[in-house]
Amino acid sequence: MSQDRKKDRLVLVTGASGYVGGRLVPVLEERGERVRCLARNPQYLAGRFCSDTEIVAGDVLDRDSLRVALEGVDTAYYLVHSMGSRANFEEQDRIGAQNFARVALQQGVRRVIYLGGLVGDSQLSSHLASRREVGSILTSEGPATLEFRASIIIGSGSLSFEMVRSLVNKLPIMITPSWVRMPTQPIAIEDVIAYLIQGLDVEEEGSAVFEIGGPQQVSYGGLMREYARQIGVRRLMIPVPFLSPRLSSLWLWLVTPLYARVGKKLIDSLRNETVVRDGGALDRFPVRPLNVRQAMARALEEEDREKAQTR
Ligand SMILES: NC(=O)c1ccc[n+]([C@@H]2O[C@H](COP(=O)([O-])OP(=O)(O)OC[C@H]3O[C@@H](n4cnc5c(N)ncnc54)[C@H](OP(=O)(O)O)[C@@H]3O)[C@@H](O)[C@H]2O)c1
Repeated sequence: MSQDRKKDRLVLVTGASGYVGGRLVPVLEERGERVRCLARNPQYLAGRFCSDTEIVAGDVLDRDSLRVALEGVDTAYYLVHSMGSRANFEEQDRIGAQNFARVALQQGVRRVIYLGGLVGDSQLSSHLASRREVGSILTSEGPATLEFRASIIIGSGSLSFEMVRSLVNKLPIMITPSWVRMPTQPIAIEDVIAYLIQGLDVEEEGSAVFEIGGPQQVSYGGLMREYARQIGVRRLMIPVPFLSPRLSSLWLWLVTPLYARVGKKLIDSLRNETVVRDGGALDRFPVRPLNVRQAMARALEEEDREKAQTR
């Protein structure tokens, strides 16, 4: 793609106040893309991005606001989820995705790029089932959609990673239920952003799903051990052989109340492995993800700078 065409096209980022969107926008700006962000509370984004980046007020639950936000857009990133909401998050995410898909189609958007969760085939938690449903709504009701699916994202500010840190920082001894041992395939935030950026120009007829992950499968417990090692503390984990979501969420409320509501949904997601089964992304994209040790070292190094970017 030529530099000129790049500058002509308009890229919409939803979820720009969130963890992933907030890190995507500066990279798009550095590449010379014309960027528009949709935000429910634009005031939170004031001064955070380049002055050329447009910020429009909007809500995926409000179709009129989407008509304005999607006008003239070539590619739209869908990085919205309602997991932190107290209301019925599945219903809100379903309606939001339907609105977005239909208005994007009406407005002639060329491609939607969505980041969802890595899912197994059966016994999905409500969180993962909802992430998958959003992907299928976007694909079936909207323009051509690239869906990237990721497990835990390693980076300062990522909820799942912050939960690991919070538990290790606070608890010298942990009773660890079975979800702590369930395999996941974490990926560094830099690698997620690289895939999302490559999604702009990858040649693809129609819609496609790409599972993305780092080179290793590791459990939450493995992440906790690696984090403890990198910050130089010793932690004792005592495994117990049962999955106890109720007990675990009570434990989270006591130890790390900030992450408890979302943490409960994350733990519930860990009844299945969240690992890459189809390695096609490595063939299609030149991204070579960092391993867990490198990804975590990088997250800790970049912490101060990244904290400044996280609301
Ligand atoms: N973080 C991870 O570890 C991880 C791992 C795998 C996949 N993902 C996927 O990555 C995507 C982005 O996740 P994230 O971690 O960046 O989430 P996040 O930090 O919680 O951000 C969610 C964003 O959604 C926006 N939003 C919520 N409801 C909205 C609505 N009705 N209209 C418009 N915007 C709305 C929020 O805006 P407000 O500021 O207005 O609330 C916020 O900007 C999600 O699809 C998630 O499943 C994340």
